[in-house]
Amino acid sequence: MSKIILTGDRPTGRLHVGHYVGSLRRRVELQNSGEYDKVFIMIADAQALTDNFDNPEKVRENIIEVALDYLSVGLDPAKSTIFIQSQIQELCELCFYYMNLVTVSRLQRNPTVKSEIQLRKFETSIPVGFFTYPISQAADITAFKATTVPVGEDQLPMLEQAKEIVHKFNTTYAPVLVDPEVLLPENDACRRLPGTDGKAKMSKSLGNCIYLADDADTVSQKIKTMYTDPLHLKVSDPGHLEGNTVFTYLDAFCRPEHFERFWPDYANLEELKAHYQRGGLGDVKVKKFLEKVMQETLEPIRARRKELEKDIPAIYEILKKGSEEAREVAAQTLSEVKSAMRINYFEDMDLIRRQSEKYM
Ligand code: TRP
Repeated sequence: MSKIILTGDRPTGRLHVGHYVGSLRRRVELQNSGEYDKVFIMIADAQALTDNFDNPEKVRENIIEVALDYLSVGLDPAKSTIFIQSQIQELCELCFYYMNLVTVSRLQRNPTVKSEIQLRKFETSIPVGFFTYPISQAADITAFKATTVPVGEDQLPMLEQAKEIVHKFNTTYAPVLVDPEVLLPENDACRRLPGTDGKAKMSKSLGNCIYLADDADTVSQKIKTMYTDPLHLKVSDPGHLEGNTVFTYLDAFCRPEHFERFWPDYANLEELKAHYQRGGLGDVKVKKFLEKVMQETLEPIRARRKELEKDIPAIYEILKKGSEEAREVAAQTLSEVKSAMRINYFEDMDLIRRQSEKYM
């Protein structure tokens, strides 16, 4: 069986370092590993509209931002199909048939939907489109026969729901849908990178994100003011790692070769952590090191973005081509789905024959 990746992001803002360590970096590795027959990366504008229906301009503007971020981290349109969800009308059709396979109470129990309803204060006025987005996400995944879906932990309930739909469809009609496997980020720091202020959630409104598109000075400033250990007042005080954002970022970004290059006093992160915990190591030094590591990672991304920004029409062209490619694949799956459900009347010669015999 071929190995196929599908994943995506809602275009509601520029992508930040949390997206990078949580998924973008891994996507590029998977893309370049040569292990996958196809890689589909989707800009989920239709899903973004389920809770931004009254602000389509926000979604519209961020499509290009997300596309620029994708390309600047190294997603390559020659190897990955990058496309826009709303351009694949087959997804709506799949979703419509999958809706029959899911109950209202099952959707109400979906933990991600539950917490998002609270977060958005929908209370009793939940838009139906929002409520059913897990079904639409199952359509995204199955339309491309994805075997592997690299996402963050928050998406686990979506994958669970998609697997149930696959099972229900395949047992009710015919086994045409592929059961997707989830691929989670490598470690805890990558799974949930906190904001620079130490808050669990990175958000634009809190101003605690480092964006991939931030210039070097902005990154530097954000690291200088990063939350550390409030009990570590004097350099000689023992420091704590728990909830210490600088160390969480090091867990996500730092590799042993960074020590060789930037801080040969330590062999690896474990040694640095031990010294910090013993006392005698100041936050400023650790932040300087983190800055070197992060600037080295982010610099090529920024440089590529600057280049790409010079030709925006070319980016739309990439998305258009990707969307055309993606449509062909989704159309093929939809046709198999309709055959499995036996609603492909005009191709079903047997049906036409039987129905005419009935009247002979
Ligand atoms: N729900 C995902 C997010 O909020 C975006 C998304 C939409 C997605 N469809 C998908 C992710 C299909 C993986 C597979 O980030």
